[in-house]
Amino acid sequence: MTVSPAMEPTARPVRTAPPVRTALKRRYLMCRPEHFAVTYAINPWMDPETGADAALAVEQWEALRAAYITLGHEVSLIDPIEGLPDMVFAANGALVVGGRVYGARFAYPERAAEALAYVEWLRSNGFAEVLEGLHTNEGEGDFLTLGHIILAGTGFRTDLAAHQEAQEFLGRPVVTLRLVDPRFYHLDTALFPLGDDNVAYYPGAFSPGSRAVLERLFPHAVIAGERDAAVLGLNAVCDGRNVVINAEATGLIETLRRHGYDPVPVDLSELRKAGGGPKCCTLELRFPG
Ligand code: ARG
Repeated sequence: MTVSPAMEPTARPVRTAPPVRTALKRRYLMCRPEHFAVTYAINPWMDPETGADAALAVEQWEALRAAYITLGHEVSLIDPIEGLPDMVFAANGALVVGGRVYGARFAYPERAAEALAYVEWLRSNGFAEVLEGLHTNEGEGDFLTLGHIILAGTGFRTDLAAHQEAQEFLGRPVVTLRLVDPRFYHLDTALFPLGDDNVAYYPGAFSPGSRAVLERLFPHAVIAGERDAAVLGLNAVCDGRNVVINAEATGLIETLRRHGYDPVPVDLSELRKAGGGPKCCTLELRFPG
């Protein structure tokens, strides 16, 4: 019996469409950069000689806030405090998981007072279970929460002992990752969660052992190149489908699109002069359940 042409196996590779991604509504805490300035240097991005344009920073930050609201997320605001120019980077203020607040303890004295301001805001907004960290930790700058685990950075800011402290308090497995490139001094400058069980990251920011851990945990991760990392493209915020990301990270934006995500480019060039991007400006408030 001869095989009819229609039944011949096709030589063309089957192109599967990327999965449909689902956005989940988020609650974010942000701080308007009214007192933003670059007056000290605690990371390689900061140069007090160059400074930064506070008015432009506010304008760009307002566009970020508007983007979240357009996507359907809820944004709460904490009052900025004069003399705390980095307070706009709300991610560093705490880690909030399952309604429990693990409070920050900053590595540099310039930012130390922010910790209490964030903890007080959270306490007076319904979060009763608060642990003020005994060990140095910079909140969501170094702790990124996925469905079942929390990834935690160390090497520049957050102490290893804080990883243990967070795990014990939050009851979630905390996986330590070692950062080795001073440009990527917080975990959230080198990696971001894509929903509950995948991530995007720049391998060059991590020690060989931590790279191996990431490969083992996330075989389908989105890998970013140095050019996209160098514009803080990994400092992005994903709601499961939409990815709010620095507009200059053009390569990563294309890759994310191919994986079925909807990039939402924003321009935060002024805040980058302090070493921050969209994620740094955003603390996620995760309620119980
Ligand atoms: N100038 C700030 C610092 O060095 C920037 C913090 C950025 N925040 C972040 N989550 N990566 O502490």
